[in-house]
Amino acid sequence: MAVVEGERRTALVSGSNRGIGREVARQLAELGHHVIVTARDPAAAEGAVEELSKGRGLSLQAEQLDVADPHSVERLRERLEAEPGRLDALVNNAGVMGEIATNVAEAPLDDAHTTMETNLFGAWRLTQALLPLLRRSGHGRIVNVSSGAGQLSDMNGGYPGYRISKTALNALTRILSNEEGGNGMLVNSMCPGWVRTDMGGSAAPRSVTEGADTAVWLATLPDDGPTGGFFRNREPIPW
Ligand SMILES: NC(=O)c1ccc[n+]([C@@H]2O[C@H](COP(=O)([O-])OP(=O)(O)OC[C@H]3O[C@@H](n4cnc5c(N)ncnc54)[C@H](OP(=O)(O)O)[C@@H]3O)[C@@H](O)[C@H]2O)c1
Repeated sequence: MAVVEGERRTALVSGSNRGIGREVARQLAELGHHVIVTARDPAAAEGAVEELSKGRGLSLQAEQLDVADPHSVERLRERLEAEPGRLDALVNNAGVMGEIATNVAEAPLDDAHTTMETNLFGAWRLTQALLPLLRRSGHGRIVNVSSGAGQLSDMNGGYPGYRISKTALNALTRILSNEEGGNGMLVNSMCPGWVRTDMGGSAAPRSVTEGADTAVWLATLPDDGPTGGFFRNREPIPW
């Protein structure tokens, strides 16, 4: 797949074949980034690129990526290492809800494990693989797409696997922000709000345009922007 090169910044969005991820990819591309659109199914990644680029002249690249599969992550790392060899923004958007109608007492733990494997370890694995490319940028931005469902300050019952995965993702944000602060890296979590997607359902009040906005803002922060924070509507929210 051809890479459109130049001085333009490069961004990668996990799970960008549909939903919020695809909209983040679209908005970043419209801001002039070269965007690596990824999906578990390579045909879905190609399809998203085709649809997004229709008549718009955007710089997009389709790649296969399953964040829960170490081989898939490694294959992508190798391809990006060769070309373009640098990454300016990583948006860890890929996520699953897991079993919703459950609670701590009855949750099938294998389902909680699967949810953690994508929402926490998937983001962690992909970040680990791509950190050398992000450090090379000198202005790396990492955005972890979290959720209000993971806020300890407002923790309620229900779907514990999902909640815990997002709380843990927020911890990853804090730790990484501290560890990578010296490399010009800004690492933040965000909550898109309740958004009309396959995950959010048709009753959700927010469009994908609104849901993607804060992630795009965090992916394009200036060098003196915030790090180690949790945001919704471009405003800090409690952990
Ligand atoms: N929608 C909301 O109201 C809402 C609220 C708060 C937070 N969020 C968060 O926002 C993010 C995006 O949600 P969404 O509403 O856009 O969900 P969505 O429409 O269900 O899309 C999820 C995306 O993640 C991908 N994905 C799932 N598992 C993956 C894996 N192992 N490797 C790579 N990609 C994977 C999916 O790919 P496939 O097509 O292959 O399944 C899909 O592209 C999630 O992290 C979610 O937790 C959403």
